[in-house]
Parts: sequence; structure tokens; C-alpha cells
Amino acid sequence: MELAGLGRKRALVVTDRQLAEKTDIVGRVTRALGAACAGVYADVPADSGVHVVNEAAAFGKARGADSIVSIGGGSVMDTAKGVAILLTEGGSLQDYQGFQLLTRDQTTHICIPTTAGTGSEVTYVAVIKDHEGRRKLLFADYHIIPDVAILDPQLTIGLPPRLSAATGLDALSHGIEAVTSAQREPIADALGLHAVRLIREHLPLVMKNGADIAARGQMLIAATLGGAAFSNAQVGLMHAIAHVVGARHGVHHGLANSIVMAHVIRFNNDVVADRHRLIAEAFGVDVRGCSDDAAGLSLAAALTEFQRQVGLPLSFREAGVPESDLEACAEAALSDGSIVYNAKPVSDPAEVLSVLKAAWRGPA
Ligand SMILES: [Fe+2]
Repeated sequence: MELAGLGRKRALVVTDRQLAEKTDIVGRVTRALGAACAGVYADVPADSGVHVVNEAAAFGKARGADSIVSIGGGSVMDTAKGVAILLTEGGSLQDYQGFQLLTRDQTTHICIPTTAGTGSEVTYVAVIKDHEGRRKLLFADYHIIPDVAILDPQLTIGLPPRLSAATGLDALSHGIEAVTSAQREPIADALGLHAVRLIREHLPLVMKNGADIAARGQMLIAATLGGAAFSNAQVGLMHAIAHVVGARHGVHHGLANSIVMAHVIRFNNDVVADRHRLIAEAFGVDVRGCSDDAAGLSLAAALTEFQRQVGLPLSFREAGVPESDLEACAEAALSDGSIVYNAKPVSDPAEVLSVLKAAWRGPA
């Protein structure tokens, strides 16, 4: 119905093997599409890459697709954004890497998220891995914002606990980084702080009972709020580091943000302690009578405790990042697009390295 409302007739379904073969979600969507299903591309891996986008776009083109329905997490939705570009523009995906390079509407895209984290269903950003270059490419353009997002908590019920926690922490990092960003603004504050509130309350409920449909629904809303918040205000050093350890060592994006979160808060605390106080209040930390500085430090401690409670590893050491690569990671993070918007300007690799080293060791 949404597709018809958008005036499209042949949708390419983009998804992953797990969803296509181990659940009935994709089958339900293709049955609903009926003759409007141009075909199903189900080979999106957990950390998608440029070659996947090329392959999916070629498949869609051969099937005469005029639109895309993506079903999955951030990797699937970001792949579909890349496919949307190639189906409209043709050529090579790398040509469109960067900020606001497109000049017209891209292929119609309906997102059906099956994780509550990335917020990609409402953002103008796609992060796609260049496996050969061991880096993540950033595509940021208003023309790749999906046309419709369908939030159905039933679809996140089967998400395993570890992924529920890691993706939830990604959403939390979006809220926090949007509120502290160098490009922060009041609307992103409202969206980001409410995302923080919802995650604090509902992620523990999801961890206790993965079938809690109300809590799952609130987490989906929190993820979408977080995505909208950082679409306005951007993200910062947490994401710069998460992109690098994801590209170089395959650390899950949400987990990487989670591990580095408290360390980045301590690093930024001397310039945005007042913002950290707002986040601490939204996160339910009692900061009455505290200085802003102390409130920021309490927030960092509370986040580490929260991550422990939801069962996530707390150090890059545990996540498999070799200590010998931390210097190279710090260098690479400096050229990530997100670092520009960090609350505190960062230009010295030694500063990033100190954050990375602390995150590698984890809490004492
Ligand atoms: Fe993220």
C-alpha cells in the first residue's frame, strides 16, 4: 500500500540470509508485495561493502526495479541506500562518496528495520565498507533519506540478546553525541534526550524478556529518534573510533560505540559538562547538588554500569582489537568524517590514542 501510494510498481527487496531463511519476515513482505515484488536480494552481510551494493544494484536493474524495500539492520538499510543511488545514477558508487553530491531524488526506498539501533531508516547517511581499503566510506546526502520507515516491534522480537544490547547502545550513542555535538541545536536536543530516556527505561526490559513487545516498540522509537537527532546534529569521536575499529577489526558498530562511550565522555567533559548533566538527568542519574564536571563523570560511570548490566564487553581488548594497532587506529580516526563534529576539537593523534588506550584496557 505504501509502495502504491508512492506511485511505484516493482520493488527490489534487499535483506540478509538470516532473515530470508530463518524467519518468515521476508516471505510476509514479498507476499504483501505480490506482483509488485521485482525480486529478493538476500546476500547483504553483517558488514556490507561496495561490491555488495554493486551486485544488488545490477540484480535490481536486471529485474526492472523502480523502488526498494529494505528489511534488516543498519548494514541492509545502508546497502539499500547505495543501491538507490546506483539505480538512479548508474556508474560507480565511490563517485558519490562525500557530502551532498547528488542533485535529484533517488530511487524510492521503504525501510523496515529489524534492529533498534542505527536509525538509518530516517537518516541521510549510509556507511559502506571498502573492504580492500580497510575503511568505511561515508555517503551523506538528503536525497538518500528513505521515503517511508515502517516500525514494527514484532520484527525485532527474534533479535538475540547480544545484538539487542549492542544495537541499543548504538542508538544511545546517537542521542548522546547529537546532544554534545559541535553542531548541536535545540530540536536535536529534544530528540536525543528523549532517546536516552527511552533506552534507559526499555533496554533492560528487553534484556529481561526479549518478547516484551511494548519495550521492543519503545526501543524502535528510541532508535528512530536517535537517528533523527544525529541527522540534525551529527555524531563525534565515539563514531570516528567505532568506524575505524569496525573497518579494521570487525568490531560490531554498536559494541564499538558502547566500549568507547564513557571514555569519550570523560575526554569531552571539560568543554561540555553542562550537556553531560542534561544527559545524566535523562539517564536517571541523580546529579542534584553536583557540579557539572562531577555530573559528567557520574554519567560516564553510570553508562559503564548499564553496559555491564546488559551484558556487553567493556574493552577493545575483549572485543579482539590488537593493542599493536591502536596507533594506526588513532591516525585513521582523525580522517573520519564524524570527528569534525566532536564536542571538543581533535587534531592530535595522541589525544585519540589516549582515549583508545583507555577503551582497550576497559574499566578498572
Ligand atoms: Fe551509529
